[in-house]
Amino acid sequence: MKVTKAVFPVAGMGTRFLPATKASPKEMMPVVDKPLIQYAVEEAAIAGVRDMVFITGRNKRAIEDHFDKAYEMEAELAAKNKLALLEIVRNTVPRGVNCIFIRQNEALGLGHAVLCARPVVGAQPFAVLLADDLMDTDTGVPPVLEQMTRIFALKQASMLAVQDVPRADTRSYGIVGTETDSKLVAGDTSLEEVTHMVEKPTPEDAPSTLAVVGRYILTPGVFDFLSTLNPGAGAEIQLTDGISRLLQVEPVLAYRFAGRRYDCGSKIGYLQATVELGLKHAETGEQFAAYLARR
Ligand code: UTP
Repeated sequence: MKVTKAVFPVAGMGTRFLPATKASPKEMMPVVDKPLIQYAVEEAAIAGVRDMVFITGRNKRAIEDHFDKAYEMEAELAAKNKLALLEIVRNTVPRGVNCIFIRQNEALGLGHAVLCARPVVGAQPFAVLLADDLMDTDTGVPPVLEQMTRIFALKQASMLAVQDVPRADTRSYGIVGTETDSKLVAGDTSLEEVTHMVEKPTPEDAPSTLAVVGRYILTPGVFDFLSTLNPGAGAEIQLTDGISRLLQVEPVLAYRFAGRRYDCGSKIGYLQATVELGLKHAETGEQFAAYLARR
């Protein structure tokens, strides 16, 4: 089976970025000139996703508007013959892609947000992308979700993107315990089988320093577990708890992706992404590098 649907949980409050996120969604914050959510949607489209399912909440109207047609602006740009800008405005939704919006009425947690997508996803494998984790890869390397869908095509198993983090930081992540000698993943050092998963453990309790970041491919079996969960850590329905149950009945893989992840839900990660992508950007790169060199 192929991954043709992706879920974008965007109903969180974004408290780490107040006051910027008081009235506007954190997923609309731009890195250089593009909102975080558009980077994630483009990554999903490249990986072959056709149905983009956004789980939205209050104050998230701007996301719907961003992926809608902008009649007045398009008419204005066309009248002034500003064709390059017109293309940019028209291409916020990649070609052949559908956008579906579901409202999460109460912010009951990431697991609950993912469960809200069940009526649209149905009995198919699906991707989950957290847009505040901005993933960047070197030229010639496929984007992270495409790396994962390629592996999924071979293994047909749920998969979590993971990276090593300092042990002192385990409290900020879902942390996995893994097994390397599984037959399923023999010979591939970037893949391990997940044996257990804990949400935000203390450094002493963490089973490893392998942290889950915001890219997942999940089989639909996870919905059954999410629907029976009681609120866990932080009184929220945790995706981690659903995955912990899933891995008791089917294999779940941890994938050490090729690339860099910027935690744009935090101020420091957002600033790092802005610097790195600003240096790479065709329009700003040269001037920005010169500015940084002389300051
Ligand atoms: P975070 O833990 O990053 O929370 O959620 P947050 O509210 O977005 O940000 P902070 O920590 O307050 O600054 C992880 C992901 O899950 C989504 C968020 O939008 C984010 O993409 N989420 C979280 C929901 O969609 N619904 C929820 O009830 C909770």
